[in-house]
Amino acid sequence: MSKRNLAIGVIDSGVGGLTSVATIKKILPKENIIYCGDNGNAPYGNRSGQEIVQLTSRIFDFLQKKEVKVVAVACNTISSTLNSDEFNHYEKNFGFEAISVIAPVVEDVLKKNYEQVGVVATAFTIKTGRYQQLIQNRNKNIQVYGEPSRKLAELIEQGDLQGSAIKDEVQSLVRNLLTAHPHLKEIILGCTHYPIVQSQFEAAAPGVQFINPALDQALAVQKYLEDNHLITDCNQGEMQIYTSGEEPIYHTVLDELGLSKDLPVHLKTF
Ligand code: DGL
Repeated sequence: MSKRNLAIGVIDSGVGGLTSVATIKKILPKENIIYCGDNGNAPYGNRSGQEIVQLTSRIFDFLQKKEVKVVAVACNTISSTLNSDEFNHYEKNFGFEAISVIAPVVEDVLKKNYEQVGVVATAFTIKTGRYQQLIQNRNKNIQVYGEPSRKLAELIEQGDLQGSAIKDEVQSLVRNLLTAHPHLKEIILGCTHYPIVQSQFEAAAPGVQFINPALDQALAVQKYLEDNHLITDCNQGEMQIYTSGEEPIYHTVLDELGLSKDLPVHLKTF
């Protein structure tokens, strides 16, 4: 098969990366996608950098065997370890470009020139300070305020999307951030699981814009494919999903994101 017709790999610790898939499918509907969710080892966000790098290397190995033309790292926690002196111990060159979910939205924030921006994310992403580093390396005048959750991604993985546990955690995250920084008007949803419950964030703080990094990541994937002459010439994209966890949560989230009806989905284990 010619390289242009290989699939785009999309990875996450679990179902969160489907929020990036939903956007990639809108922009690049003809592309095939191979999705890998390591639900059996989620959440990644409460783990150490070394564990995250090890688990991610296993997913990259799998995708290398499957042959993909590019990988969208649809996980902020993993993206926090990429291109970083502190965590980047991927000992192998996997032979594909890994496109972070963080770097493209940072470019967007820099262009918009906000005075301050909030980030809600996993404990690991906030602890690394990646968003703050990448933004302030380029513009020290933008203040970046982070608020971690040790529970929200895991609650979403459990699938009770309308339940009170998720609502309470979303409200407490937003309240903590806005109590400390009452003038915040833009908050990045810095964990790909969070846009699955974006409407609950919006209900918790009606005057605030919650930024989903998926669009900027999808545009970065598109640009990479165009620049490298790798846009597919297939007519209709398919998606294969591989998971180290259970199937039912995929059906819940694919339904929630409106993806089930459009896509042939094959669920397999990796
Ligand atoms: N969806 C992931 C992220 O964007 C991580 C969730 C987790 O496994 O903790 O950070």
